[in-house]
Amino acid sequence: MSSEPEPRGTEKAAGEGWVCHLLTLFPDFFSSPLEASIVGKARERGDIRLEAHDIRAFADGKHKVTDDSPYGGGAGMVMKPDPIVRALEAVEALELERTGQRPHRIALTPGGAPFRHADAKRLAQLGAVSLVCGRYEGIDERVMEFVDEEMSLGDFVLTGGEPAALTIVDAVVRFVPGVLGNSLSAEDESFGTGRLEYPHYTRPRTFRGREVPEILCSGDHGKVDRWRRSQALLRTLERRPELFSRRRLDEQEWKLLREQGVEREAVLDAVGAVGAEEVES
Ligand SMILES: C[S@@+](CC[C@H](N)C(=O)[O-])C[C@H]1O[C@@H](n2cnc3c(N)ncnc32)[C@H](O)[C@@H]1O
Repeated sequence: MSSEPEPRGTEKAAGEGWVCHLLTLFPDFFSSPLEASIVGKARERGDIRLEAHDIRAFADGKHKVTDDSPYGGGAGMVMKPDPIVRALEAVEALELERTGQRPHRIALTPGGAPFRHADAKRLAQLGAVSLVCGRYEGIDERVMEFVDEEMSLGDFVLTGGEPAALTIVDAVVRFVPGVLGNSLSAEDESFGTGRLEYPHYTRPRTFRGREVPEILCSGDHGKVDRWRRSQALLRTLERRPELFSRRRLDEQEWKLLREQGVEREAVLDAVGAVGAEEVES
């Protein structure tokens, strides 16, 4: 009886590190950034494993050509499908042999789904991920049938998928157990709570005539906490009101805003102005 292959991107077992394969024409791009700071230390500890693979190594012929002119004409070159799909399959075979995991396949494209906080958390739950970095005019469209999803870093065009991959890796590893000292901090920050974070201050208490808010020096933890929650709401209202429609305001939050002199109508107007939907539960 033939057994069905496991679906790609199966959830990892507890305590197992996160694995990311970066498929690129420029593997050196990743060397320095992935050695530095938190990511570098997590790699040294073995909490995560990151590997860059040269797509060119999977191209045919003496010249290992990875791009060609576009069908239909037009400027620029397009990345050929064969080397990319071969690279994905080779990486998968390698990972299956090593750990029994099938990497979840992601192509980085400006037209993909926007990468958000929730995606960082979701990808951290997967055992292994492959990120395909495009270059030139982009990737032959048929490759998209061999990936699980397309992701975009935002509404702008980069010269290649590498900076996007780097950013995604950086955001994901924060959710891998053990990578951040305090496991709660990734959730407490902007977007984790569905709000922007409150402002931070450190010494000196007066900097060029600007004071640290009095309440932060009061030693009253209850008041500090309340102030921070109010500030997070005010900042979100001012800068990113649409976040209130992704996670609606609860009664406690409406109360905090009222205490700051912000009425329901002002919130509804701000949210309406950015074209978001309901914020009331
Ligand atoms: C110059 S871009 C190609 C842009 C493409 N011609 C277009 O207009 O949509 C080359 C590669 O950079 C990557 N890239 C560029 N912008 C990106 C973004 N916002 N998010 C993710 N990847 C991006 C993709 O891998 C893409 O294949």
